[in-house]
Amino acid sequence: MTDKNNVPNVSQKRVKLRRIGVFTSGGDAPGMNAAIRAVTRAAIANKLKVVGIRRGYQGMIEGDFIPLKSADVSGIIQLGGTILKTARSAEFRTPEGREKAWLQLQKADIDAVVVIGGDGSFTGALTMSQEYNISFVGIPGTIDNDMYGTDYTIGYETALNTVVCAVDKIRDTAVSHGRIFLVEVMGREAGLLALNSGIACGAEVILIPESKEQHDELKRFLDKGYKNKERSGIVIVAEGDEPGGALKIAEAVGRDHPDLDVRVSILGHIQRGGSPTANDRINATRMGIAAVDALLDDQKSVMIGLDNGKIVQVPFNKAVKLNHSIDTGLLDIQKMLSM
Ligand code: F6P
Repeated sequence: MTDKNNVPNVSQKRVKLRRIGVFTSGGDAPGMNAAIRAVTRAAIANKLKVVGIRRGYQGMIEGDFIPLKSADVSGIIQLGGTILKTARSAEFRTPEGREKAWLQLQKADIDAVVVIGGDGSFTGALTMSQEYNISFVGIPGTIDNDMYGTDYTIGYETALNTVVCAVDKIRDTAVSHGRIFLVEVMGREAGLLALNSGIACGAEVILIPESKEQHDELKRFLDKGYKNKERSGIVIVAEGDEPGGALKIAEAVGRDHPDLDVRVSILGHIQRGGSPTANDRINATRMGIAAVDALLDDQKSVMIGLDNGKIVQVPFNKAVKLNHSIDTGLLDIQKMLSM
């Protein structure tokens, strides 16, 4: 399927939509199942056949496909994880891997695909749609809520509530023992989950990759504010704040303040699981239906987003290249209220 320069031979003729694929890719997020259900049933309502692609792009390469009927997505709206499973595929990042995936899609007569995932997943879809004649529409599904062009990504709200419940419990023991807790939350490159969970938990300090000045705040708190708080405090640390994360920061705090009783709690993958909140289910459902609509309207390489509660379409190249801005004003609010 490629010429001697390894450039794919692509027929530009668009095909009439008959059968679509749907898959989840990258880190799972609560609400992905609600999106799979909505895509499947909206497609069936429009007389399309639906194929579930298992294990993300890796499953696409290997032809790990299952037919999806309405009954197959029954009873899944409340489930965390993804019934289609997910993966991060190194092979798909190679031209050979994408060619295998394209051949599998052709063999299964799949005309267009809905991809539910984050920026890595959409980058893969964009690359493949530029090389081969296949349309992808994306639904943002990641607990990080870091996609440009959408206020919301599926799973973020559930993860936020998971973090808040966990930190509330940690607060109880921090106060009882008079300890400083550094609580690390997910977000490799994005601090939104840390920022908003910190606000919701009344954290004393929030460290996020988007604002390095927050380390001065931590210093101020440890030098002075800590004493006002009857010797306990919660510091929320976004995983991506600095290499080594909360453990590394705790080491430095211990060195500078040997008198303090410091503990670290890394919340980890607990943040990715659990039954999705009502909003995650509702938004996943709206986005799933909008994704099928977009394919029926012959859209290609767009992500479905939410802008002030309204469904929008954002080109993949913008969604993956531009950064999602965060409201750093929230840090001022936190600073004012935590003293
Ligand atoms: O992208 C979602 C996310 O949960 C990030 O917040 C985190 O850094 C990453 O996935 C962890 O990925 P994995 O489960 O592959 O270790």
